[in-house]
Amino acid sequence: MVRLVISSDGPAAAGGWREIFHSVAPELDVCSWYEPGLDLAHVDYALVWHPASEDLARMAHLKGIICTGAGINHLLHDPGFPLHVPLVRMGGEQTAALMADYVLWAALGLLRDSRTWAVQQQRAVWKNNRISRTCSEARVGVMGMGHLGGHVARHLHHVGFTVAGWRRSARDLPGIQVFSGNDALPDFLGELDILVNLLPSTHETRGMINHALLGALPRGAGFINVGRGNHVITDDLLRALDEGQVGAAVLDVTDPEPLPADHPLWRHERVTITPHVASEASREAQARYVRDVIHQMERHERPALLCDPARGY
Ligand code: GLV
Repeated sequence: MVRLVISSDGPAAAGGWREIFHSVAPELDVCSWYEPGLDLAHVDYALVWHPASEDLARMAHLKGIICTGAGINHLLHDPGFPLHVPLVRMGGEQTAALMADYVLWAALGLLRDSRTWAVQQQRAVWKNNRISRTCSEARVGVMGMGHLGGHVARHLHHVGFTVAGWRRSARDLPGIQVFSGNDALPDFLGELDILVNLLPSTHETRGMINHALLGALPRGAGFINVGRGNHVITDDLLRALDEGQVGAAVLDVTDPEPLPADHPLWRHERVTITPHVASEASREAQARYVRDVIHQMERHERPALLCDPARGY
């Protein structure tokens, strides 16, 4: 029997995870990382979020590690991570659909300037900020057109936004203009009403969203960050917002995260902050995905979201 150990969400979640796996994948033998006397020699796979470095090092002989996060930068940068063990990122239909819904919500909110309504409501102000622009009159650009970025782009396109994408290498997506490589960045950014960040967090992309990049957007463009906080130079974003270069922002991730209570972004009239919640699939959906990945790996197939440590995602 294939054995899966779960460390994700800590000891308190172990019973819940077990029950869920029992119903969606009774063929798996599921145990908790926190079981006294756990014998790792008889474990095949691990499901983790952000284990301690020494716990990761103990997973060196496993057949695979599956992360409950779609972003795995924290694992790859951990000195204890056994780089030879295949690492698979969280995926599945619900993860992608939740992200696509969040970005749609954020994009529509930016389009209609819903932050102004929220601020006005707090002050009991009844004032029409007339906006007669539909999504088909707005152009959204998605940076990072991988698994999640592709879903987001298709979802926005389906609703009626004009959608462009930017990524490292070329990719064809019907109805979506995909730019690739650094040379294409100015052309990509220069036409956008809303920029969405869904890049993976790597050495190349950290700090990429800085004064110069934000300055390449048309004045007043909106910004949605659902990637990682460390893609953005926070002070540059704040300055761009204060100067009106960025019209408004929706931030699900920040740097640092969470922001300190006195950080000006918290109370900024042009900023909506959510607590890193854009795309967290239910445990049932995650368990179904993990089951499918394990079955693939047992058949010696390559899971679609297998991480390439050299690439960083
Ligand atoms: C959350 O940010 C994730 O990586 O899934």
